Amino acid sequence: MKIAVIGTGYVGLVTGVALSEIGHQVTCIDIDPNKVAELNQGIPTIYEPGLGEMMLRNQSAHRLFFTDQHEKGLDGAEVIYIAVGTPQRADGSANLQYVEQAARDIANNIRKSVIVVIKSTVPVGTNLHIKKIMNANTRPGIQVRIASNPEFLREGSAIHDTFRGDRIIIGAEDRETADVLEEINAPFGIPVLKTDLSSSEMIKYASNAFLATKISFINEIANLCEKLGADVEEVSRGMGLDHRIGMSFLRAGIGYGGSCFPKDTNALVQLAGNHHHEFNLLKSVIEVNNHQQRVLVEKMVARFGSLKGKRVAVLGLAFKPNTDDLRESPALVIIPKLVELGAEVITYDPIAANQGPRWINAPAAYTKNIAKALKDADCAVIVTDWPDIKRMEPETFAYFMKTPIVFDGRNCYSIAAVRKARIEYYSVGRPDVV
Ligand code: UGA
Repeated sequence: MKIAVIGTGYVGLVTGVALSEIGHQVTCIDIDPNKVAELNQGIPTIYEPGLGEMMLRNQSAHRLFFTDQHEKGLDGAEVIYIAVGTPQRADGSANLQYVEQAARDIANNIRKSVIVVIKSTVPVGTNLHIKKIMNANTRPGIQVRIASNPEFLREGSAIHDTFRGDRIIIGAEDRETADVLEEINAPFGIPVLKTDLSSSEMIKYASNAFLATKISFINEIANLCEKLGADVEEVSRGMGLDHRIGMSFLRAGIGYGGSCFPKDTNALVQLAGNHHHEFNLLKSVIEVNNHQQRVLVEKMVARFGSLKGKRVAVLGLAFKPNTDDLRESPALVIIPKLVELGAEVITYDPIAANQGPRWINAPAAYTKNIAKALKDADCAVIVTDWPDIKRMEPETFAYFMKTPIVFDGRNCYSIAAVRKARIEYYSVGRPDVV
């Protein structure tokens, strides 16, 4: 199948590379010529384990191409994926201008009937709205059929999720279109659920909102555990053994971040409001998350009184491990707050350290050397559970720091290991070690 993908951001690039890997002829289109130049040299523009090798393999096999010219990229395509961003507007709703522009670009350039697949996360009803835009702009006699095929991949494990996902959702306006998409995806060997367009769009939002709800729920339980002397890790394990609940997304911490959960939960609240429905449960989920990003600073203030002049090592900037993405990371809230309270901040991140100065709105130092960050620090704050931080012996804190006082937002170490290391340790939803 000859496929074009518009947008080489996270979703678009992974989609294009994966579709070429299963044998399709794929051209990815992006309006940014610098990005396209890098991609054409075989350099992936995002950090994602396994992506670079797969990209190179398919470029060498002449199945994967990149261009900044719509006319060239869309020429002869039978199926066109739209995978451009839907950033959050100030009121929380999704900004559809890039999806609309992609639709116009498609309509102006195609010379034969095509199927257009929307991969971007879009509010319910957008697929039909986009179809109308295309119908108004295509040449006479050309038919555009539309399908919704949301993605469920996680940053950092996008390749794994694309090839080993739980399901592929295909929302289409007719049976024939759904069948074509099923055939395209058949080599992935993943179960397919075919739905109408609106249900497919809703499945994406509902899934992310539900996962965010699980996280806020366990974070509230964690906050309560602290007050009642229980251990949230034990509680999660005990809850998760019930298969109706499940173990995943019950890890308490300093809240969810990233480019998806915060944006999609806000957009769903906004969408509900537009239809005179107050989604109170989801509003609370968001409120709990906003507070959770601040709990470590509250603990630090409770411990020290004042943070003025304290040297604080912040371990981890990325919103989660295995990505260099800082979007909506708790670090963006925690670091400026620490600086505002008078602390001197030195941050460590093995991959995202270079991104720090661009994202953190406060003076701080950045290093990829954990010992340098910890050296002579008055306390350490763990924001991201990077494997090298988790693997570190808790004794290391005592070895490098002025005073080994650790505030762990990701529960990286067992309480027993911390006691043995003789450090002062505050985590989330577990007993303090003092
Ligand atoms: C999320 C979904 O998991 C994907 O299925 C979806 O496709 C994607 O959004 C999207 O809409 O594009 P992602 O944002 O990459 O993927 O990251 P997750 O691994 O889901 O983690 C999100 C946040 O939740 C992270 O900040 C993580 O630290 C936090 N989290 C996750 C917890 O605090 N506790 C948990 O138990 C799990």
